[in-house]
Amino acid sequence: MVDQSTRGKTAEEVHPPESVGLPTWERRHVLDLDDFNRREMEQVMETADAMKEVLGREIRRVPTLRGTIVATLFYETSTRTRSSFELAAKALGADVVSVAAAASSVQKGETLVDSARTLQAIGANILVMRHRQSGAPYLVAGHVDMSVVNAGDGWHAHPTQALLDAYTIQHHLGDLRGKKVVIVGDILHSRVARSNIWGLTTMGAQAVLCGPPTLLPWGLRPGYRGNEDKALPPVEVDTNLDRAIEGADVVMALRLQLERQQAGLLPSLREYVQLYQVNEERLARAKPNVLVMHPGPINEGLEISPEVAHGARSVIEEQVTNGVAVRMALLYLLAKGR
Ligand code: CP
Repeated sequence: MVDQSTRGKTAEEVHPPESVGLPTWERRHVLDLDDFNRREMEQVMETADAMKEVLGREIRRVPTLRGTIVATLFYETSTRTRSSFELAAKALGADVVSVAAAASSVQKGETLVDSARTLQAIGANILVMRHRQSGAPYLVAGHVDMSVVNAGDGWHAHPTQALLDAYTIQHHLGDLRGKKVVIVGDILHSRVARSNIWGLTTMGAQAVLCGPPTLLPWGLRPGYRGNEDKALPPVEVDTNLDRAIEGADVVMALRLQLERQQAGLLPSLREYVQLYQVNEERLARAKPNVLVMHPGPINEGLEISPEVAHGARSVIEEQVTNGVAVRMALLYLLAKGR
């Protein structure tokens, strides 16, 4: 929907509202949500609302971050995260430098830290990075002055995905407090699950993890040393999806990460589908207005049935759309907030 009130106006006349980006934002990096408080998450979501309004205008661009350089450095493939960060930066008037490790001097032996410092030396103010190694963004953040945003590190964290997930849930269901969010699938290998556990818990939602015992982190496997994982906040775990999904407000299916599977974690994909696929029959046990989410990319017909993935309760494409506004909000807060 195009906002007619901006028709014919120049970019300078259509800045985001003055209220955007309260002066209390002090965070330099976004590495995970484990150290975010509720107020910070709300601030991101309020700012994302304003950014969504900008994206609804005829001119989907404001000069707010003119002069800022956002660099993306990706050592793993990405469709959604990378493109939405690039669009977000451009919509705010920033310049964007995009580096794919496969086509960079990494191939000549350049280290991660040297690559990051090189981008800083050419003027980057914010570095958005994805790396297969858990903790890589923390290493970089310790060696640069620019802001570092974790766009996914190994199995560890994907904070901007969790922020856009919380934003999408809040848009449909309002306050997250008390909402039952079932995250089902390959929890073990999922950085999305880990960041969502922090984000949802901070916002007061009831996170329930569900998957085969072999695809749960060791500390969450039933019977393992008191069923605790000290690296996560307290969370419910249920290996039976038919039971876990009862009364759910949200069902978030995770991609079965076939590329990260070690031999023997699953007896067969057929059995996985039988026990853990999110399909119409299982959704009937959830609340009637349940939201179906998936961070993507999807193995359609494996962790989620095509009917559910594209059905009326699916907000999967909306998650992707909201990713641009949420990432605009983060870039804005990082660039202007300090
Ligand atoms: N959800 C997500 O991180 O998708 P991409 O791998 O396409 O960025």
